[in-house]
Amino acid sequence: MSKGSCVVIVGSQWGDEGKGKIVDVLAEEIDIVARYQGGANAGHTVHVGSDEFILHQIPSGILHPGRTCLLGNGVVFDPFQFFEELDEIKARVPDAEQRVGVSGRAHLLLYYHKLLDRASEASRGAGKIGTTGRGIGPAYEDKVARQGIRVADLRDAARAETLLRRAAERINRKLEMLDSGEKVDPDLLVRDVMTIRERLLALMVDTGRVIQDALNAGKRVLLEGAQGALLDVDHGTYPYVTSSNTTAGGAGLGVGIGPTMIDDVVGVVKAYTTRVGEGPLPTEFPSPLQEEIREKGGEFGATTGRPRRCGWFDAVVVRYAALVNGLTGLAVTKLDVLDGLPELQIATHYTAGGDTLDDFPGDLALLAEAVPQYETLPGWTETTSTARTWDDLPAAAHAYLRRLEALTGVPIWYVSVGTRRDQIIHVAR
Ligand code: IMP
Repeated sequence: MSKGSCVVIVGSQWGDEGKGKIVDVLAEEIDIVARYQGGANAGHTVHVGSDEFILHQIPSGILHPGRTCLLGNGVVFDPFQFFEELDEIKARVPDAEQRVGVSGRAHLLLYYHKLLDRASEASRGAGKIGTTGRGIGPAYEDKVARQGIRVADLRDAARAETLLRRAAERINRKLEMLDSGEKVDPDLLVRDVMTIRERLLALMVDTGRVIQDALNAGKRVLLEGAQGALLDVDHGTYPYVTSSNTTAGGAGLGVGIGPTMIDDVVGVVKAYTTRVGEGPLPTEFPSPLQEEIREKGGEFGATTGRPRRCGWFDAVVVRYAALVNGLTGLAVTKLDVLDGLPELQIATHYTAGGDTLDDFPGDLALLAEAVPQYETLPGWTETTSTARTWDDLPAAAHAYLRRLEALTGVPIWYVSVGTRRDQIIHVAR
């Protein structure tokens, strides 16, 4: 049987690397784009011409005619937010609803998960995680505790009602324990879910089957990760992480295919580093460079609008992301944001208590002691946003990018130099 190709796109820092832009560029050559984890905590900003779209749940491939867009079983699916987003997209892409599919095995994320998310964050006080407030942690908690409600559970309306009423009771007990002051009204919950039930069931698919059949038919599939490697619940800076496996291992798992189906894993990295929310960021810029790069790079969260913390490129982080994802290629984004800086720094390794750390530590206490060691490279004065080929880039940018390759051990396949679809360089392999 002929086999198509399957590529995974993963964030390889702390999220917001510009995966949406890369997926959007690659979607030109792809038949199916599928999300495999996370939910509406993601926020992909995609620019097409002068239009800007912020997609939270629908894969960016939707903006390309004819592409099928799927949400896998690993996603925590917020149906109300999803239909809102879909209705907005339909103004621009009338056939969008015919091209999306949602796994029957995906867990529903309902508004009570958001109430719990906020109540849990408030109860953590100074130890808060800085979540997006989209209910992600509580929805995955329900899944793992085997008390979640899945899309397929809506098929039988009476059974769905029983599950929803049972959930409301349980959530109300939890909210009370957390002193939330909020309460779920079971009648309203049932009424609301029933309003979207049939529309959602019409989109229900078995994502593993759809993808496997497409691959067997020689089609090309892209599995789109949300967030980044350092936010992975297993591999990230725990507990300052999201509640899913953002790394490539989660991709097959989150759509229902095996790891042997995956051909390539492309890691998306910014030419510098950002993070939103609490938790360590070893190469964080001091002021005023922090504010300068934040402004220049438009570093404000697409989902929450929060200012992102910015820092130098951390090769320790990306080397680690290469390891846990098995990266085969890199896409470096926002190179243009570094234009005009007299010199650039790259963290090559850390030191802690007299020891050299080449690997990103799993222990946050050790990470807190770690001091990044930098290498300094010359910057460039030229504007890179007009470059469309490797040769258009200045020599200092070549040297910077080649150094990133050497330090991370992963070849660069794409360089993005602006928000627009055409601002991309395909690097010869
Ligand atoms: P949650 O996913 O909303 O539970 O948030 C957990 C952590 O992941 C917080 O630090 C968030 O800021 C971060 N996070 C979640 N989604 C994204 C994203 O799409 N980009 C960047 N950070 C994110």
